[in-house]
Amino acid sequence: MALLCLALLVAICPMCAGETGAEGWLRHNDLKTGSLPTLVAAVGSSNVVRTAANELAHALGNRPKAEGVAAQLPAKDAFVLGTWKDILALFPDLPAARLPAGDGFWLRTVRSHGAKYWLVIGRTDRGVLYGTFSLLARIAQQKDVTTLEDVQTPSAPIRWVSEWDNLDGSIERGYAGRSIFFDNGAVRTDLTRVAQYGRLLASIEINGCAINNVNASPRIVAPEFIPQLARIADAFRPWGIKLAVSVDMSSPMVVGGLKTFDPLDPQVAAWWQRTADEIYKQIPDFGGFVVKADSEDRSGPSQYGRTASDAANVIARALKPHHGILMYRAFVYNHHLDWRDMKADRARAAYDYFHPLDGKFEDNVVIQIKYGPIDFQVREPASPLFGAMPNTSQAIELQVTQEYTGQQRHLVFLAPMWKEILDFDEHVGTAVVGRRSSVVGKTPVKDIVSGKVWHQPLGGFNAVVNVGLDENWLAHPLAMANLYGYGRLAWNPNLSAEVISEEWARLTFGNNPQVVLTISKMLLSSWHIYESYTGPLGAGTLTDILGDHYGPGVESSERNGWGQWHRADEHGMGMDRTVATGTGFIGQYSPEVQKKYETLAACPDELLLFMHHVPYTYVLHSGKTVIQHIYDSHYDGAEQAAELVTQWQSVKGQIDDERYEDVLKRLRYQAGHAIVWRDAVVNWFFKTSGIRDEKGRVQAGSVWGQPALGCPVERS
Ligand code: GCU
Repeated sequence: MALLCLALLVAICPMCAGETGAEGWLRHNDLKTGSLPTLVAAVGSSNVVRTAANELAHALGNRPKAEGVAAQLPAKDAFVLGTWKDILALFPDLPAARLPAGDGFWLRTVRSHGAKYWLVIGRTDRGVLYGTFSLLARIAQQKDVTTLEDVQTPSAPIRWVSEWDNLDGSIERGYAGRSIFFDNGAVRTDLTRVAQYGRLLASIEINGCAINNVNASPRIVAPEFIPQLARIADAFRPWGIKLAVSVDMSSPMVVGGLKTFDPLDPQVAAWWQRTADEIYKQIPDFGGFVVKADSEDRSGPSQYGRTASDAANVIARALKPHHGILMYRAFVYNHHLDWRDMKADRARAAYDYFHPLDGKFEDNVVIQIKYGPIDFQVREPASPLFGAMPNTSQAIELQVTQEYTGQQRHLVFLAPMWKEILDFDEHVGTAVVGRRSSVVGKTPVKDIVSGKVWHQPLGGFNAVVNVGLDENWLAHPLAMANLYGYGRLAWNPNLSAEVISEEWARLTFGNNPQVVLTISKMLLSSWHIYESYTGPLGAGTLTDILGDHYGPGVESSERNGWGQWHRADEHGMGMDRTVATGTGFIGQYSPEVQKKYETLAACPDELLLFMHHVPYTYVLHSGKTVIQHIYDSHYDGAEQAAELVTQWQSVKGQIDDERYEDVLKRLRYQAGHAIVWRDAVVNWFFKTSGIRDEKGRVQAGSVWGQPALGCPVERS
C-alpha cells in the first residue's frame, strides 16, 4: 500500500489586495483552518488522487513543508484520500453500502489508531478529486467540517464542456481572447492554461472537454494532428478530464482521401475505425466525438440520402470497442426556409428529424439537444425533443458563452433560466407506449437527460463555454458564475440558483455577508433584467441575428430563411405555433404540455409570442396590453440595469479594487447599452404599431430621444 504523506505548513495568506480572476472560485485565500489536520495522506498510486492531495495541501498550507512515502497511516490527525479499495484496506469497518455510484464521493470523519481522520473516498479516482474540491469549498465557505458524513452521486455520467475553438486560434462566439488550445493551425506549445482550465473544470465535477468548434476542421483528426491532441489530453488527465473533439462528416474524404463520406460505404466505416483506433492508441482515455451535420452548411448524411442515425452509427461503432461516446447534435435545421410560408417553422426541425429515428442509434450515441427549439435565446420553451426519444440517450446543450445574452459585456447569470428548463415537466410519464411504457410520475428534463426516466445507460450535459486567453477566462468577472453554475447543475440539477449564486459569491469574493448578499441579488435578478430590455414575451432576443448576435436588430429576424421570426408587423406579433391554426409545433409536446401552450387563455405570458400571434392590443394575464408590456418592460429593464451599478457600488472597499473597477466599468457600459436597446426596440414598435405609450415616454417618431422628421400617424 503506497501512501503519500504531505505535511502542511499551515500559513494562510491574508486576503490579497489585488486579484486577476485567474483562480476563479479556487482562490483558497479566506480559509479558516485552525481545527483541521496538518497532514494529507494520499493512498494508492493514482495520479488523480495525487492531484487531489496536492490541491488540498497547497490550498490549506500554501505549500507542503514535507512530502514523502509512508508505509502506514500515521497515528496523527490527517486527511486521508483514496479510492474505496485502498481506503477499505486501512479502515475495514466502513459500511460498503454507503459507497456512491459513478464518480460520486463520500466524505466522512472517523476515529481510529488514536487519531481523527477526514476521509475522502471515491469509487473512482475522479470521485476522490471531486470530494476533495467539495471539502475545500466547504472550508472556504466557512462551513463546519469538524464532523462529516456526506455522500454525493452525480446526476449523470456525461458532464462535458465544449469549446468552439478554431485551429487558427480564433474562437467562434468567444468573447474572452484567443484559444488556450490552438494557434496558427496547431496545438499551442505552452499548455499551462489548459492544465489550469482542467483544474477549474474538475473543481465543478466536469469530466470531459470537446476542444474545437462544432463547425469542425476535418484536420483535427488528421494523422499528423493526433499527437498534438495527445499533448492536450496529457494536460487534462491529472484533473480527470477526458479529451473529446468535434469532427466533420466529410473527414473520410477531406483527410482520408476517399471518394465519398457516405456513412453506409464500407470504406468510410473502415476509415472511421482506423481513425478511432489510432486516436485511442495515443490517447487511451479519449472521451469521444461531437458531430454537427446537415446544419448551417455543414456536410452531412443527407448528401447521400442517409439519415442522422446512419451517420451517427458509423462513427459510434468505431468508438465502441474503446468505450468512446458519440454526441450527435440535434441542431439540424434548414436555414433557407421560406419566410412567406406561415406553416414553415424552424422550431419544429429537431423533433421532425430526430423523433422518427428514436431507437435506431447505437447505445454509445447520445443525442445532444439545445435547451430550446431555436438557438440559445433569452427565453425559449424546453425543447419538445427531450420528451420524444425514450429509446435514445440524450444530453442537454447549454451555453455559458453569452452569445445571445450580452456576450459577457452584460451581466446575465443563466442558472435561473437553466433551472426552469431542467425542472420543466415534459409530462411523458403516461404518454409513452412500447418498450419504455413503465414510466410514471413527473418527467422533468433533468431526469430525462440524466437517463433516469427511461433507464438509459448514458446521458447528461454539454455546455459551450469558450474560455479564452484572457487572464480571468471569460472577460466579465461575474460571468464565471455561469461556468460555476453549469458545473454545479450538471452534478446536481436539484440545486437552486440561490444556493449556487451564494456559493459562487463566497468562493469568488469572500465571506463578507453584505458582499455575498449584494452579489447574489445582482446575479439572480440579471437574467430577467436582460430579458426585459431585449426580448419580450418569448419573442426571442431581438438582436442582430444576421451578424454578431449583439445589440438591437429587430428587423434582422424577418424576411430571411433563418427562421428566427417574430412576425411583427403593423397589426401584431408572435409566431402562431398552435396545432389549430399555426405551424403545429405545439403538437410535438405531450398532451398535457399542449394544453398549457395551445390556448391563449392557458399560455403563460413569458412565452406568449413564442406560441401565438396576437394583436398589439391583446391583454396579457398581467392585465397589460402586449404593446404596453413591450414599452414598460424596456423602460423598467433599462432602469434596473442602471440600479445594478448602484448595487455594485455598495461593495466598494469590501473587495479588491481590481475586480471592483473592472466590474463597475462593465456595469456602467451595460446600463448605457440597455438604454440603446430600450430606445431601439420601443421606437421600432411604436413606429410599426402606431400605438402610443400610455405613460408618454415613447415620443412620436423619436429616435434616441430626439424628435424625428416624418412622425408616424398615431393609432390609439
Ligand atoms: C449558433 C451560432 C453558431 C453555431 C451554431 C451551432 O447558430 O451562432 O455560431 O455554429 O449555433 O450551435 O452549431
